[in-house]
Amino acid sequence: MSSGYRVAVFSTKPYDQRFLNAVNQQGVELCYFEERLREETVKLTEGFDAVSCFVNDIVDAHVMQQLATNGIKVIALRCAGFNNVDLDAAKACGIRVCNVPSYSPESVAEHTLALMFALNRKITRANSRVHEHNFELEGLLGFNFAKATIGIIGTGKIGLATLRALKGLGAELLCYDPYPSDAAAQLATYVDLDTLYRRSNVISLHCPLTSDSYHLIDDDSIAKMQDNVMIINTSRGGLVNAQAALNGLKSGKIGYLGLDVYELEGDIFFRDLSDHVLNDDVFALLLSYPNVLITGHQGYFTKEALEQIAATTLTNLEHFFNGELSGNELVE
Ligand code: NAI
Repeated sequence: MSSGYRVAVFSTKPYDQRFLNAVNQQGVELCYFEERLREETVKLTEGFDAVSCFVNDIVDAHVMQQLATNGIKVIALRCAGFNNVDLDAAKACGIRVCNVPSYSPESVAEHTLALMFALNRKITRANSRVHEHNFELEGLLGFNFAKATIGIIGTGKIGLATLRALKGLGAELLCYDPYPSDAAAQLATYVDLDTLYRRSNVISLHCPLTSDSYHLIDDDSIAKMQDNVMIINTSRGGLVNAQAALNGLKSGKIGYLGLDVYELEGDIFFRDLSDHVLNDDVFALLLSYPNVLITGHQGYFTKEALEQIAATTLTNLEHFFNGELSGNELVE
């Protein structure tokens, strides 16, 4: 059965298509594109009613205008963050924008812990050694999280899930958020940002990327931190000034860096570039440090999260096509 509505779904991989097809009850016509939605690809939306996009699609004012010209009436984001979409432009163009506000915060929280543990106990290095029959432990020394102070920046859904997961470790937990929550206050102590920087052995970022939080981690904030600090970013790349992180690694101020996101990830992540030369010198330098662990924006990548993303995305679209609100509108 077909609803008659056509949706151009950008930045899709076979796994996205499997999960979306499985929940497409109303027979909406989903046309999958592997390309990102951006200025160069917006022409592909001609003849569609809606678009669906993901974290690295670029929907700025110009693209929004083109979408409106092509007759697009709704943008269904398959993610929570919307820093890549110009909401003012959407409003001006009369285009509805919906997101998936919550789809398993535990998926990102658990990946955050995976990065923390793997960095601390040098798991990737240890694994490579053992596969080469090298059972030497020199260079693999870790520390007990139970003795450490861990600072969480942003105590929304993912920050809170991270605090819950960390609670059992026995570490001292600090947190910062301009809008404190009672739930987080029961697990951690709210402090100001400078105190969190000064006191934490581990700092993990869980706030959205906004004009306020852009380059939150820069030379100045790193200078306030403990020597040998561990920094984890599973939120958005733009929170960390990558050049400042390199400076911190070089000076030894940063002892461990775990990134699931990177400022300029748009041209790199979610693709197999193993036959290509990397043109990003900062990224290449980051990869050269043994105490840097990078994953390619996979914090969200669990079965439960993909099921929820697909279900909410389809619900958001179906509500629009049925002339209703889903409650997930960023722009009505
Ligand atoms: P949320 O909206 O529930 O929580 C964000 C929290 O950050 C709020 O409590 C807010 O008050 C706080 N905040 C805002 N500005 C801040 C600042 N300047 N400093 C400190 N705190 C600030 O969002 P949720 O679901 O917890 O997601 C957080 C971020 O995680 C998203 O914005 C997104 O960028 C990222 N994310 C990453 C994924 C991945 O796969 N790596 C997947 C999903 C989200």
